[in-house]
Order: sequence, then structure tokens, then C-alpha cells
Amino acid sequence: MINVAPFADSTPLIGDGDALRARWAEDGALYFHDVIDPKLMAWAEQHYRKALADEELIDLANEVPVWTGKKSDTWRPCDAIGTTVWHEVVRLPMLNAILRELFKADPAWLPIVAHRSAFPEGPLEEGQNIFAGQHQDAFFNEGMNSTICWMPVRDIPDLDHGTFAVAPGTHKLGNLHDRNHPRYRVPEDAIPKDMWRTAPYRVGDVVIFRDDTAHAALPNLSNQFRLSLDLRVGSSLAPQPVAGTVDSVNGHDVTIRSDDTGELVTVHVSEETFIREMNPYPRVPIGELSRVAYPGARVLAMAGKDRMAKVLRRNRY
Ligand SMILES: [Fe+2]
Repeated sequence: MINVAPFADSTPLIGDGDALRARWAEDGALYFHDVIDPKLMAWAEQHYRKALADEELIDLANEVPVWTGKKSDTWRPCDAIGTTVWHEVVRLPMLNAILRELFKADPAWLPIVAHRSAFPEGPLEEGQNIFAGQHQDAFFNEGMNSTICWMPVRDIPDLDHGTFAVAPGTHKLGNLHDRNHPRYRVPEDAIPKDMWRTAPYRVGDVVIFRDDTAHAALPNLSNQFRLSLDLRVGSSLAPQPVAGTVDSVNGHDVTIRSDDTGELVTVHVSEETFIREMNPYPRVPIGELSRVAYPGARVLAMAGKDRMAKVLRRNRY
């Protein structure tokens, strides 16, 4: 049985900007109820179900997304939904209102979205570390300063159904990732176990957290998929990444046609750039830049005024 302390409810703070920002500064993670339109999520769930059924991972005859037992090599099968669902979610007024209070500026949504369907994993093993997936997104998205909005797409009946945990306050601990580990794992003892918080999330809930606040998906001991959606957003006043299609690559210069402006933007990739692919390892060596950057590739780059790319990553949208 999964046993983690309950996550404080910040819903009563909605409408009190100072209180929201104080808890945001202290915890780096906030949990709200009744922010996401349940009708929209019910519609989203049908898209998730179709994507899973298309891969024969669930049987649509079941109302519950019970795993058929079939394996899949597809990285996040529900990402096949594309922009249909998340383009609606980012329009939700209350979600934007909360973010506007946190940022004291309009939110700027990034085209980085994950439609997750967590497979059942079987029973816990003796001594298994349930936080084994602990990480800070900021390590993989340096300089992007994004905020993550995580939400369940269907109710999570209890903590054994593969819920999601955050460790409020870990944004104050700096980088926790081991730069010498091939997958840059966070060492198990880097985060005291009593810092973790979670909940059996319901549709309508949203967890908003900083990209340097540690978080982890917890083991799914049930027989069904856990369905969730996570979005990235930042302050419209902060430097924005360039998202678009690679036009050309000239040595270590990557020229991208920006989706936003239609203009060509050239960023320079160096040994310092985190060229990101995630499989099989998070970081691509600069000598293999062409795995991510080639004409026609969809990418997202974060660069300073000097156009030196801090991050260059494949993008799906
Ligand atoms: Fe993450």
C-alpha cells in the first residue's frame, strides 16, 4: 500500500493573490480543486480512451481503462491526441486567473505537453523506493523557467492507482540531479521522504508547481491506466523559447522558423547546450546534433540574447 502525507489544499487561497504568492514562494507547488472544467475533462478522457484502444491497450467495452496486458513500444500513446485537448485546457479562465496572480503577469503557454497513461506495474517489491522517478524538470529545461500544470484526466480512486507526488520546498535545495549518472538520476537520499505530498486526485483538480520542485509518478498497483495531462506555462514577461520547424542546420547553427512570428531565428549550439531527446539517454552529444535538428524537425530552443542555446529539444507540437 502506498502511504504518503496529504497535499495541502490551496483552493481557499484563490482570489487572495498575496496569500497565493506567499505559499508559492514557500512550497513551490500548489494543489487546487474545482479549477478544471469536468465536462472538458470528460471529453478529454474519451480522446485518451480512443488513443489507448487504437493500440489495443484497453477495451472500450470497459468503462474503466483496464489494461489488456498488451505491450506497446509507443512513447506516450495518448500524445497521438495532438493539440485537440490541450488547446482547450489552456483557455480555462480560472486556471489562467490563478497563474496571472502567481506571475503578476499574463501567462504564456508553451507547446510542451504530455498526455500520460501510466501502465499497471504489479505489486510493490520488498523495499521498493516509490519515489524512484523523482526529478526536477528544470535540470532538463535550463533557462526556460517553466511552471507545470498537472491534472488527472479521470479520478484516481486511491493512492495505489499510480498517483503523482510532489515535494514542496525542494525548489530551495538547488539542483538535485547527479551530473555523473548516465540518466542524471537524483540520488535516493537527496530528498527526505517526509517532504513528499500526494492525493487521490479528482477530475477538476490541478497541481501547479515550479520546474525546480521535485516530483515523481508513484507506482501504479492497480489493473488500470492512470490518465493525466501536464502543461507548461511561464510569465509573458520572461524570455520565451523559440518553438518551430528547423529550416536549416549549418555546423552548430540551427535556424528555426518560429511558429509565433514566422520569422527565422538562428541559435548556436555548443558543448554547454542540453540537446535533449530523453531516449535512450536524456542528453544527445553535440556530435549527434542531427538526431534532433534537421530540416523539417519540430524543435524548441531556449537561448539568451547572445543566441547561445541553453536547451534544444525535439518538440511534438
Ligand atoms: Fe517532470
